[in-house]
Order: sequence, then C-alpha cells, then structure tokens
Amino acid sequence: MSTHDATIGAAIRGALLTAEPQAKVMAARKVARDWRLGRLAWRFDAPMPDRPARPAAPELLPPNRMPKRGKAGSQRGRIALWHALAHIEFVAIDLALDMAGRFGAAMGEAFVSDFLAVAADEAMHFALLDRHLAAMGSGYGALPAHDGLWQAAADTAHDVAARLAVVPMVLEARGLDVTPATLARVRANGDAAGARILERILDDEIRHVAFGVKHLAACAEMRGADPENLWISLVRTYFRGGLKPPFNDSARLAAGLSLSASRALAS
Ligand SMILES: [Fe+2]
Ligand SMILES: [Fe+2]
Repeated sequence: MSTHDATIGAAIRGALLTAEPQAKVMAARKVARDWRLGRLAWRFDAPMPDRPARPAAPELLPPNRMPKRGKAGSQRGRIALWHALAHIEFVAIDLALDMAGRFGAAMGEAFVSDFLAVAADEAMHFALLDRHLAAMGSGYGALPAHDGLWQAAADTAHDVAARLAVVPMVLEARGLDVTPATLARVRANGDAAGARILERILDDEIRHVAFGVKHLAACAEMRGADPENLWISLVRTYFRGGLKPPFNDSARLAAGLSLSASRALAS
C-alpha cells in the first residue's frame, strides 16, 4: 500500500467515528502526526458525520437535567469539576477534527494544519484531565455529562465563518475568561498537579482562539467584510445569549480578540 492511499478526509472521519476515549485520543494525535509528516493525501473524499461517535459512558443529559455538583470543596465537588472539564476537552477533540475535515478543502492547508494541531492539543488536555481524575479515584465516564456542546457545531455546519465566530471565538474564549478563577480555587485547595494542568490548558487555548481570529479574518477578506463586524453579526445570528463578562482582557488581547467587539456582544 503506498503512503498516499490514506486521505486526509478519511483519516479525520475515522477519528470522529472513534468512540472510546483512549482510542479517540490516539486517533486524533495520529491524524495530526500523519498530516504533519506528509502521510495523508489532500483529498476530502469522506463526509463528516453529523454527530461524532460517543462512548457508552458518560451518560449524556440535557444541560438542565445535570445533577448538582455537590458542595464546593468536597471531594465529590472536586471530582465533578474535573469531570466537567474532561468532558469539555473530549468534545473539543471532535470540534477541532470537524473544523479541519468539514471546511479544510475550501480553506486550505494552513487551516488544516492549525486545526489538526488543535485536535492534538485537545486530546492531550483530555488525557491529562482523565489521568487527574484517575489519581482522585474516578475517571471520565463516572458521572453524567451535558449534551449541549455539539449544538454549536450543528448550528454552524453550513458556514465556516459562523463556526469560527462561535466555536473558537466564543466558546473557547469563554474558557480564557473562567479558567483564572478555577485556577485560583484549585491552588487554594493545594492541588498543584491540577493547577499545572490548567495553566497548560490556558496557554494552549489562547493559541486556539487566535487560530479562530486569524481564519475568520481570512473569511472576512474573501467576503469584503470588516472582521469585527462580521464576528459580531455571526455571533448575534448563531449564538444564543450574549457573552458573559467579566472578560480576561489580557488573554483575549493575547489571542487577538477585539475587546470592544467582545463588550458589544455582552450587551
Ligand atoms: Fe483544550
Ligand atoms: Fe481549545
């Protein structure tokens, strides 16, 4: 079999359709590595699934049916926090894969390289969090998780600009805003290993948001639109509810997000 029998489209589709967490982590990292090493042909010959494969556990519940997290500071509450973060990272693997596989043909090789690198980062984030849960006597799948995260992908499957405006530039940017408070709480609990994981995630997520900003700017240029106005109008169309301040201004600036546009979207 020649190396180029494998195509980028089929490799990404295969990773999206991998259900088991450890296997999905391996599959996402392998696609990113194979792409980087030139082992995948530039052909998008496989459709992206409407929904990625999910493991038997965790049970997925609508956001309003999620159980309470337990008392803050209790072991149960701490496990619930890390489990929720692990779930976000698990879904983020698929969000990045779908971005590359669904829109890569139109957006080009640099776009695919960026979002496959994101998928590999998310796989690493998930693996670190799952290992942290294991050290606490738990693991991904032990608790229910909420099923709302894929909705943003479904709502924006027809338009790469809408996807960029909402997934990296709203949802991942939200992570920049809330992580410092979580980090402070984790440090206050004396969880140094957990704090190191969150610091690494925060660093990486700034880069992920920046990829969103960069590629939305390219879309704006192709459409002859102003990037900030395009972002604002796409978020108003495709994201229910405004952005929630307070914002992490320094992280947003580092990612290249407009603070004035962020504030406009908060009201
Ligand atoms: Fe992440
Ligand atoms: Fe991310």
